Amino acid sequence: MRLFIDTANVDEIREISRWGILSGVTTNPSLIAKEGRNFREVVREICEIVDGPISAEVVGMTADEMVPEAEELAKIHDNVIIKVPMTDEGLKAVNILKDKDIKTNVTLIFSANQALLAALAGATYVSPFIGRIDDIGQDGVLVVEDTVQVFAQHGIETEIISASIRHPMHVLEVAKVGSDIATIPYGVLKQMTLHPLTDTGIKRFLEDWETVKNK
Ligand code: G3P
Repeated sequence: MRLFIDTANVDEIREISRWGILSGVTTNPSLIAKEGRNFREVVREICEIVDGPISAEVVGMTADEMVPEAEELAKIHDNVIIKVPMTDEGLKAVNILKDKDIKTNVTLIFSANQALLAALAGATYVSPFIGRIDDIGQDGVLVVEDTVQVFAQHGIETEIISASIRHPMHVLEVAKVGSDIATIPYGVLKQMTLHPLTDTGIKRFLEDWETVKNK
């Protein structure tokens, strides 16, 4: 199980990278917009902080638009992975990019069948959005579990990045069903460090230490 951070905020990435648990970063146009900075500049900076796959998304809607956009983004750094939306044009683009040895992450996946199509087209990664599946009253973790099973059964090497993670239980649940990777927002990573018994344990240790520290 590997953990990525799902953010385009370089301060957050810098802080979490110091924990030694980060294997990569995912961004999307909404996360980039939140930062209000130049897209390529942000991607370049992220690549300098984290030595692992860094997903950057194309915004073209046809394969003819996506492919040149992807080629430009891939020039930024060897670790850049091209995020492509799960559409028929996206599949075409993935198929072309595979032949150019450009790695892709097919995003906005909401079913195991979409994941299967993306994998067969040549995606390096697929990203099921589990929180958004839960939002419409379906089971996001089940989509990950089904995808894990289908890929294992058919020897498919495409890796699964569980995305749209909203809380620590999502991380635990996708880890249990065999997701290769979870991409997690900064706030959820911080929540994962916490437990009230850890806090009371530290408090008690420090209080006890006070009673003997000068002896
Ligand atoms: O990685 C996808 C993620 O950024 C979407 O999350 O919470 O907007 O569904 P959310």
